[in-house]
Amino acid sequence: MQFKNVVAGAAVLLASAQTTLALGSATVVNNCGFPVYYTSVGAGANAAMQELSDSYTQAYSNEGDGFSIKLSPNDTTSGSVSQFEFTWANNKISYDLSNINGYPFSSGGMEIVPSMQNDPSNPSCVVVDCPAGESVCSAAYNAPDDTRTMVCDQDSNLVLTICPGGSSKRSVELIGSDMHYRVHARHLPKHA
Ligand SMILES: *[C@@H]1O[C@H](CO)[C@@H](O)[C@H](O)[C@H]1NC(C)=O
Repeated sequence: MQFKNVVAGAAVLLASAQTTLALGSATVVNNCGFPVYYTSVGAGANAAMQELSDSYTQAYSNEGDGFSIKLSPNDTTSGSVSQFEFTWANNKISYDLSNINGYPFSSGGMEIVPSMQNDPSNPSCVVVDCPAGESVCSAAYNAPDDTRTMVCDQDSNLVLTICPGGSSKRSVELIGSDMHYRVHARHLPKHA
């Protein structure tokens, strides 16, 4: 009985390994209301930073390369940078947010949302949430020995939003658990 289940399980694994999933992409969205600069660094060279207008999208590479999209409110990587890191291997995309070289977006926060989250077969395909106003984000790498890498299937797109709550995020956060109620209430027509 036990053995049969193991064999059946192996067959299912083989079948799914043979399925070709499309390659997804990584996107960065600037929702801060101030300029953000980025440079995407593969294995090797450090390119000049460019302004992130609305968003930047990069398809995953299935040639085994890891990438780091370095992000700063200044157009230099010499100050503090947050890094959105992702690496393809074996039909999976591993990803993390690293603040080892600083966290210049602590006041507005950052959030990585995978499109295929909540897949029971892939429990590590989850949101990386750095709430606004926290000087240290425990969901990000803050030291090399941290374990903060998440994994999704390669067809899951990843969207990193800087300042996910917009430039008013900080005051909204401070309202706490009444947030949704108050935000909606604020939008009610005054003469209703
Ligand atoms: C950006 O530049 C300003 C002005 O030089 C400086 O005070 C700030 O620390 C810099 N921040 C980063 C993240 O480089």
